[in-house]
Parts: sequence; C-alpha cells; structure tokens
Amino acid sequence: MKTVSIAIDGPSGAGKSSLAKALARELGFIYVDTGALYRSVGYQVLKRGGDQSDSAFVKKLLPNLKVELKYIDGNQRVFVNNQDVSDMIRTPEVSMAASAVSAIPAVREFLFDLQRETAKKNNVVMDGRDIGTVVLPDADIKIFLTASPEERARRRFRELKEKGIEASFEDVLTDMIKRDYDDANRQTAPLRKAEDAITVDTTGNTFEQSLEIIKQIVQERLNERSGS
Ligand code: DC
Repeated sequence: MKTVSIAIDGPSGAGKSSLAKALARELGFIYVDTGALYRSVGYQVLKRGGDQSDSAFVKKLLPNLKVELKYIDGNQRVFVNNQDVSDMIRTPEVSMAASAVSAIPAVREFLFDLQRETAKKNNVVMDGRDIGTVVLPDADIKIFLTASPEERARRRFRELKEKGIEASFEDVLTDMIKRDYDDANRQTAPLRKAEDAITVDTTGNTFEQSLEIIKQIVQERLNERSGS
C-alpha cells in the first residue's frame, strides 16, 4: 500500500520538531527527525577528536558508522553502532558540528537511503532542511515553517535551559544566524522552500495556534487526496 509522507522543512528553531511530533501523534504517523541523523554523525566526529569541516576525515569515518532509527514507545531514538546517542546530540557543540558535516555531500548520500526507506515503509511526518526538495520530492504534503531569527533563538534558548544546557542568549542567536547562513548557502541540498510547499510563519504564534494551522492544511490536503 502506498504510504503518506508529510515533509516539514525550515530553519532551526522554527518549531519543526515539536510541531511535526504533535502532528505525527495526531495522525498516528511516525515522526522522523532527520536533523538527529546529521547530529549523530557530527557527534561521532567530535568524539573521535576530528575536525568537523575536514571532509576527508569525516568521509573515512562513514563506513564504520551504522546509523539506525528505532521507535521506542512511539519516540524516535538514534543508534550509532548499537549505542543510543539520542540524548547526547542536543548540545550547542553538536549543533554546529551537525551543520558542518551536513555540508559534505558524502554525508548526505550516506544518510539518504535510511530516510527514503523509512518513508517508503511508514506513514511519516519527516522534518529537516531538504525533505520536500531532495529526500521526498513527491511528498503528499510539504510545509515550509519559518519564524524571525530572534523568535527562533528565544525558543532554542528556552529549550536548552529546560534541558539544563548552559548557553547565553547572544551566543544562541549568533549560532542560529551562522547556522541559517551556512545551511542556506551550502552547495549540496541547501535549505530552501520547495516550489509546491506551503509557507507557515510561526512568529508570534503560540504552539497551539501553529499546530492548528498545520492541521488544517494537512486535513484539507488529505481530504482532497481521498476525494480525487
Ligand atoms: O534540525 P536540527 O537543528 O537538528 O539539524 C541539525 C543540522 O543538520 C542543521 O544545522 C542542518 C542539518 N540538517 C540538514 O542539513 N538536513 C536535514 N534534512 C536536517 C538537518
């Protein structure tokens, strides 16, 4: 049976992961956080003391990495060489390392099949930067989520604080702006809106308001699909 794919792309802090997760739960779909895959590679590079922008070093590492996605109690966990790394990949250092390794084409290729296969086998809400443009260009519904940099930095700052990770707001904002720039300007699969994606700007919205907007878009599209 053909599965349903919902692609949610956008810059960091736009609310992709929390909204995608809530949407997936409502629909009974699997939530696939593709950023976690890039983070798991970035984490391995840091762990082995490598330079995250040294593509030769990173490339050599890839054949020794077995990256897997598992769903435990409905939550995604990322395993690298049988170790659950899901919790240690959330630090600001790993964010920067993930952004750096994600610019290396070999890393994108390495993670491509896992993402594609997961969507082939399951109904998914998949979030990332290139889902609607590269990974699932035929996704049934594409949403491009965005918000102002200040608002996105505020949200990320709050998230880090809740997790007990130390950071200053200024550093979070500076990192966010740098990461946006790098993600949008890299040669391979840069962050950009797919032509057929619907833009949702979450600036000033509560989480519930944004979720409502997205749910409406998805319901309309799914109704159109089942009617056609
Ligand atoms: O969504 P996130 O912050 O966890 O993503 C971490 C980094 O991974 C981000 O800076 C860019 C990269 N990324 C990507 O290049 N493509 C994706 N589909 C997802 C993330």
